[in-house]
Amino acid sequence: MAIKHYLQFADFSLEEYAYLIERTKIIKQKFKSYEPYHPLLDRTLVMVFEKNSTRTRLSFEAGMHQLGGAAIYLNTRDSQLGRGEPVEDAAQVMSRMCDIIMIRTFGQEIIERFAANSRVPVVNGLTNEQHPCQVFADVFTYIEHRGSIAGKCVAWVGDANNMLYSWLQAAEVFGFHLNVSTPVGYDINPAFVSQNNLRYTVFKNPADACAGADLVTTDVWTSMGYEQENVARLKAFDGWIVDSAKMQRANPDALFMHCLPAHRGEEVAAEVIDGPQSVVWDEAENRLHVQKALLEYLVLGKV
Ligand code: CP
Ligand code: NVA
Repeated sequence: MAIKHYLQFADFSLEEYAYLIERTKIIKQKFKSYEPYHPLLDRTLVMVFEKNSTRTRLSFEAGMHQLGGAAIYLNTRDSQLGRGEPVEDAAQVMSRMCDIIMIRTFGQEIIERFAANSRVPVVNGLTNEQHPCQVFADVFTYIEHRGSIAGKCVAWVGDANNMLYSWLQAAEVFGFHLNVSTPVGYDINPAFVSQNNLRYTVFKNPADACAGADLVTTDVWTSMGYEQENVARLKAFDGWIVDSAKMQRANPDALFMHCLPAHRGEEVAAEVIDGPQSVVWDEAENRLHVQKALLEYLVLGKV
């Protein structure tokens, strides 16, 4: 049987997400009531980080422990990956010693090559082009607060980055609409969006993208790996801050999300991220719960 990987948001169907959302609710409830739940006893997760992380490492590592398994952390600095061992060879070796692998790396093609040579499921913990675990947590958080996301409007204000490309896939899977506003020169690369994706509209003016939105979301202006563009980006993104004026264009009960880490005063004003519409802490916490459901599903299948 083909191994199931989670390399991009579109790798799961709506039916699979519906299952995972139900599992997430159950697993979260067990966690909240201190009920031990160890379906992954004696199983091992290997986590490979080629970029920094707080939330992704913590949520996968804590999550695997809470499910009864073990998690091993590797990074480029002190593994042979940093000394040029081919990704294909690393995948062969690692996947003979564990049950599931999570990778945070640069190009999407790296994780695809890794998965093609892995005997166990591979999960994308962020690439330059995708961040599916985060967007799954965001969709779950929206549903927790407001119910179904189908037919709703999500405003994306900022860079065309990994988060946006995963949101674009989520819009197709869950049937909602994305209003996208990116500065000139930082717009959507059509190569990263499916040709028949009719679930988004591009706006020149970021405030117009927020009009009538049920959820407004943004991200850092400079993603990991693009630091040398920081000065140019600060200039180009002038006016793209999500502030209360933009939130006022959204629906009165609109939520605000940010995958974090955030820069107050750059992509988001403190009054918004620390204000009543912001659900960023629930969003961050839900990384733990959705990923536990994901680990359970990828290792054991439907339980
Ligand atoms: N949102 C997110 O993935 O955070 P980290 O970079 O801290 O893992
Ligand atoms: N777009 C950001 C997300 C960080 C979690 C980055 O890639 O750096």
